Amino acid sequence: MRTQVGIIGAGPAGLLLSHLLHLRGISSVVLERRSREYVERRVRAGVLEQGTVDTLVAAGVGERLLREGLPHRGIELRYGGAGHRIAFERLVPGRAITVYGQQEVVKDLIAARLAADGDVRFEVDDVAVHDIGTDRPYVTFGGGERLDCDVIAGCDGFHGVTRPSIPDGVLTAYEREYPFAWLGVLARVQPSAEELIYARTERGFALHSMRSPEVSRFYLQVPAGTDLADWPDERVWAELRTRLETVPGFSLATGEIFERGVTPMRSFVAEPMQYGRLYLAGDAAHIVPPTGAKGLNLAVADVRVLTGALARFYADGSAELLDGYSAACLKRVWRAQHFSWWMTTLLHTFDSDDAYGRRLQLSHLDYVTSSEAAAATLAENYVGLPYEDGDPAGP
Ligand code: FAD
Ligand code: DHB
Repeated sequence: MRTQVGIIGAGPAGLLLSHLLHLRGISSVVLERRSREYVERRVRAGVLEQGTVDTLVAAGVGERLLREGLPHRGIELRYGGAGHRIAFERLVPGRAITVYGQQEVVKDLIAARLAADGDVRFEVDDVAVHDIGTDRPYVTFGGGERLDCDVIAGCDGFHGVTRPSIPDGVLTAYEREYPFAWLGVLARVQPSAEELIYARTERGFALHSMRSPEVSRFYLQVPAGTDLADWPDERVWAELRTRLETVPGFSLATGEIFERGVTPMRSFVAEPMQYGRLYLAGDAAHIVPPTGAKGLNLAVADVRVLTGALARFYADGSAELLDGYSAACLKRVWRAQHFSWWMTTLLHTFDSDDAYGRRLQLSHLDYVTSSEAAAATLAENYVGLPYEDGDPAGP
């Protein structure tokens, strides 16, 4: 079998890349380890930056997103017995975020690929990449199948096979682990607030988010290694109440919890994001803690850059943009790394923090919620900085 671009992984990065390449007349095959049902049900991110929305809409996969997505023009930071609104419409006019589940983006992209007769293969085992240091790389999978390609895109997430296939000594890894995780739940209950609430309390962080007028999404800071079995519904609701019902007049509506999971928190960057004819995109190359809501958005930004570079490569044979792929991505990657680390340290409780550290954290929160300049910094990063290519419609 032969294709132009072999794509490993059918998460947002791999599927969007396959779709954008198709729009430019470039062929690809996507190889995914899990089933279609599994990837369409995998509950993860929910916050799309303005640029992510613009990219999806320009690519023709934004119809349902525009209909069902929930535009948000602010978020609340809640601590010390009061709520403080970060008002995007004043701080970053014209820019907002849209709440729309990652699995809905994945469903829309799979539907678009299949409607265009795209080759997306699910439940593919034993994927391995070969000869990536040459201009004739290939992929083997499923007990004897072989896919020859010009280029391989590693879109297989943090635990994938492509990054570890790069020879020792090529990559430098930058990493930080956090001593806590997020316990996330989906509940059939109307959101108790119109906007997202990021709450910092002495007992830890809590986040009130949503998916629709009928479904709410919540996260709780819990110790690393937490066992879900220790968190029956009553305990989840009691802890959410304690951490969120901290301002006068706010009461949390509860309902049936129908999905739950624990996510470890990690910051990670592998540099460079490429080796030979293998290009890493999304979580395969970098991970952020979810507090800044940046992971999915960064995956989209990488894929835009890679699409532009591949389009040039196939247009006139020039590898100039491909050679500069990693450098072109890393500026945004590191901005998001800093913002995600910053939001995480601003809002979580660290057991290692002494009384002095907690005072510094509160002082920082007071600054962010009272200074227009500081609030604008948060808002500008949260809604997402403009793309380097400056084109909202994509490369
Ligand atoms: P993935 O979605 O991980 O996709 C990789 C794919 O590769 C998977 O389908 C996997 O099955 C497949 N794969 C892996 N190994 C192999 C193999 N050997 N062979 C074939 N296929 C393979 N980001 C945001 O922007 N906003 C948010 O609000 C946000 N909130 C989050 C909340 C939580 C609780 C979590 C966990 C994450 C959150 N993120 C958020 C991060 C976001 O979900 C990820 O950054 C995003 O999924 C990255 O997409 P990806 O396509 O790079 O990787
Ligand atoms: C959601 C996830 C995040 O990581 C975040 O910062 C805000 C919202 C969500 O899943 O709704």
